[in-house]
Amino acid sequence: MAPSPYLLLIPILPIFFLLVLALIVRPRPSKIPIKGRHVFITGGSSGIGLAIARLSAAEGARVSILARNHSRLDLARDAIRLATGVDVAVYSVDVRDSEAVARAIEDSGPIDVLICNQGVFLPQELEKQELDEIKFMVDVNLMGTFHLIKAALPGMKLRTREIGLPSSIAIMSSQGGQVGVYGYTAYSASKFALRGLAEALQHEVIADKIYVSLIFPSDTETPGLVEEIRRRPEITKIIAGSSGGITADDVAKKSLDGIKAGRFFIPCNFEGLMLAVATAGLSPQSSFAAAFLEISTASIMRFAALCFQWSWYSAIENWHAKNPSKRN
Ligand SMILES: *[C@@H]1O[C@H](CO)[C@@H](O)[C@H](O)[C@H]1NC(C)=O
Repeated sequence: MAPSPYLLLIPILPIFFLLVLALIVRPRPSKIPIKGRHVFITGGSSGIGLAIARLSAAEGARVSILARNHSRLDLARDAIRLATGVDVAVYSVDVRDSEAVARAIEDSGPIDVLICNQGVFLPQELEKQELDEIKFMVDVNLMGTFHLIKAALPGMKLRTREIGLPSSIAIMSSQGGQVGVYGYTAYSASKFALRGLAEALQHEVIADKIYVSLIFPSDTETPGLVEEIRRRPEITKIIAGSSGGITADDVAKKSLDGIKAGRFFIPCNFEGLMLAVATAGLSPQSSFAAAFLEISTASIMRFAALCFQWSWYSAIENWHAKNPSKRN
């Protein structure tokens, strides 16, 4: 018996589907060169920010870094000069001070790639956390990002028009910006907010060829992480067991590659990719291959998410059963 001609559909349908995805994904794929361009990085004196600054300098960008601590900025500048032979400009500014941010950006000259990487993280249950700590996280992580983008955007638009090359605004999110867990109320609020900012901003700046990226590093081996882990409530330690292992240099490499490819979500390891796929929602997507992965795994991802929730709720229940005295 001759095989049914319908069998031909089996290979043809996915190819047709991929073609449709290639046509509809938005924004359209783009390449954002960084060689010879001005990369401005906040939180740039240590950890991921310093690693991105060093890598950008090594790739031939003109680099400016902004951070609070003057002496740490000087150390960062020396370290980058030693590693790459390149001199970077440094700005000692608190991102909470919008006027100081605007002055630093004005002094630094028009920006091609703005990387809003500053962030603070103080895990604690909402009921115990002081309001000034909550405000500190929202002010640095969220308002600081608004201050930076507001100050940089007019110059970036002019510059993009002038030289005709696409530009980038990249925002450092976190796994706490993809899923909220015990002990992360204020932090996750500040990081989830960045996603709303990024999605809406991409609509507003796409006509100016500015691409917005959200970077999702997992726990990265930085000075900040050590302090953060020490402070974590016990239940948070159980739920958010550190996946660890990823270095600031790994995150920097993944971040710059994603920025150069104009990707909206930039996950930094396999776990980050799975979280990005699971939380794709209504986010923009410029890669038809990534879109295909999202669509074809959507229901299994939802099932996996429910399994995670089950294990987290179980952990919380067990902890309370074992520690009845710690309930107030
Ligand atoms: C600034 O950084 C230096 C070097 O890491 C450190 O010794 C100092 O305590 C920091 N100052 C502030 C105000 O955080």
